[in-house]
Amino acid sequence: GAVYPFYQKHQAGIVTPAQDRLHFAAFDVADGTTRADLIELLQDWTVAAAAMTAGADVGDYGSVSGPYDAPPEDTGEALGLPPAGLTITFGFGPTLFQNAAGVDRFGLAARRPADLVELPHFPGDMLEETRSGGDLCIQACANDPQVAVHAIRNLSRIAFGRAAIRWSQLGFGRTSSTSTSQATPRNLFGFKDGTANIKAEEPAAATEHLWVGASDGPAWLAGGSYLVARRIRMTIETWDRTSLREQETVIGRDKREGAPLSGGTEFTEPDFTIAGRADQPLIDTAAHVRLAHPAQNDGLRILRRGYNFVDGNDSLGRLDAGLFFISFQRTPASFTTVQLNLARHDALNEYIRHVGSALFVVPPGAAEGSYVGAPLF
Ligand code: HEM
Repeated sequence: GAVYPFYQKHQAGIVTPAQDRLHFAAFDVADGTTRADLIELLQDWTVAAAAMTAGADVGDYGSVSGPYDAPPEDTGEALGLPPAGLTITFGFGPTLFQNAAGVDRFGLAARRPADLVELPHFPGDMLEETRSGGDLCIQACANDPQVAVHAIRNLSRIAFGRAAIRWSQLGFGRTSSTSTSQATPRNLFGFKDGTANIKAEEPAAATEHLWVGASDGPAWLAGGSYLVARRIRMTIETWDRTSLREQETVIGRDKREGAPLSGGTEFTEPDFTIAGRADQPLIDTAAHVRLAHPAQNDGLRILRRGYNFVDGNDSLGRLDAGLFFISFQRTPASFTTVQLNLARHDALNEYIRHVGSALFVVPPGAAEGSYVGAPLF
């Protein structure tokens, strides 16, 4: 199975070929935690993350070799499992730099990236406070759900007393591909998702659209990125009652191949100019792919890395299902531009509802011997 080194120029889990499983957690730093405590937490997290991504237990003694009368350092459920392509990606929320009350708890306000402000309220947003925001985040991706959950569980255990989980999300199937070596998966609407994504094999696109450049500022963030997370409920029962024609019109691609409705195969560029009937283009003006396309968004692109979720059901027997959308971009403005366009005009809005939202800045990768976020301090 795949093993991805933790210590890299950019953090792993971004252009890494999207794994099948996700456990994502947002944390709030506990009251009374000092700047020194926060640094120590990031150091502890770094050591543990490097061990787990290499397939090792957390701590000096791990899950079964420690003192018999003490709780094991590692919780043990990944014992004997391979690393399963585990990546652990850390991010910092706007409130880490200045909390809602305007307090700079860790002496970081002056180092806050100018772009790291709360996302605007988009038309149609129905955000729940308990599924939004957070001082810190950890994205754990792996090809085995037990390995991803083990990572979040042990990192939150290590954080005990210093930071606690604010909200978390499990994802069971990737809804994107981030490498041309991967087949395009499908989301819960049954459509191929990730076709026109930024891929690892496009370094020029990554430089232009994904990584914070040295001249973008602040200097400590060069080689980092911005992570947007949106919990998007899909009203799949309504979707499942609509015709195939309507479904394809809403997306702008065909369901079998994922080809644009203007013709060709999956990776053919959509042609938005071809007229189907004189008064109606083949790709509808409200189709998702038209509104999300760089042609409608000042040429901006984002790297999508989301997951399907089903978190049980409501009292009417409807699945609490959807897409846990994650995207990485050089500036939050790339996401905001696309999402404003979608929120205003997308035909998909009849079938989805954004219920959770968070923005984090993802520092560059840590060098061996250092820790994630070190250049910030
Ligand atoms: C493309 C589904 C939300 C941005 C697509 C495609 C599908 C899809 C099926 C076509 C295949 C592909 O190129 O990947 C969905 C669903 C969503 C959702 C079901 C919600 C539940 C979003 C959001 C954004 C977004 C919130 C960003 C704000 C994009 C972009 C493309 C795309 C940039 C590629 C457009 C292009 O260049 O052709 N989406 N999407 N999507 N989507 Fe979404």
